[in-house]
Amino acid sequence: MTKLNIGIILGSTRQGRVSPQVGEWVKGIAEQRGDANYEIVDIADFNLPFLGTTDGTEPGIAAWNQKLASLDGFVFVVQEYNHSITGALKNALDFAREAWNDKAAGIISYGSTGGARAAEHLRGILGELKIADVRTHPTLSLFTDFENGSVFKPAELHLTNVNTMLDEVNAWSGALKPLR
Ligand SMILES: Cc1cc2nc3c(=O)[nH]c(=O)nc-3n(C[C@H](O)[C@H](O)[C@H](O)COP(=O)(O)O)c2cc1C
Repeated sequence: MTKLNIGIILGSTRQGRVSPQVGEWVKGIAEQRGDANYEIVDIADFNLPFLGTTDGTEPGIAAWNQKLASLDGFVFVVQEYNHSITGALKNALDFAREAWNDKAAGIISYGSTGGARAAEHLRGILGELKIADVRTHPTLSLFTDFENGSVFKPAELHLTNVNTMLDEVNAWSGALKPLR
């Protein structure tokens, strides 16, 4: 059977962000499973404009949609900004529609309270985009999973949760395939 393609989407774009460290850690765990093709998808690479401020012909917009269309499911690496997701992630979510539809997603978040508030906001948005968000949600603490809030040192206990989330993302991404 052909392996599914799962994108690990980095939700932050600011200079000095920690999301690449988290994304690489998830990818390392995921690749050991051998059950799907996993890749990091960095919003920053696409140079998306702010939605509505241009004529929409920037090549990054088409490239973003093509990348999403090539994926069967997603893992969102979510950080909490003012109790919600980043503006960059919301903008990137808004820049596609069909390419998101009938796929599954897991969320791994971080913040002072594990990024839980941002993750719950994201769940509401995913419903509108017809993305099925799985239950298991690893939450990382800025205080105990990062040194000085900047060097990622995840506690061992998160490993089980990440694998359970990936089990669910793979199962649902495959189950939704006939709809795509
Ligand atoms: C604009 C802004 C707002 C933030 N608001 C919150 C917040 O409401 N709750 C929280 O737990 N952390 C908050 N933080 C801390 C971030 O979660 C933390 O800096 C995290 O590392 C950001 O992710 P990044 O490094 O990938 O950009 C905020 C950070 C920024 C830059």
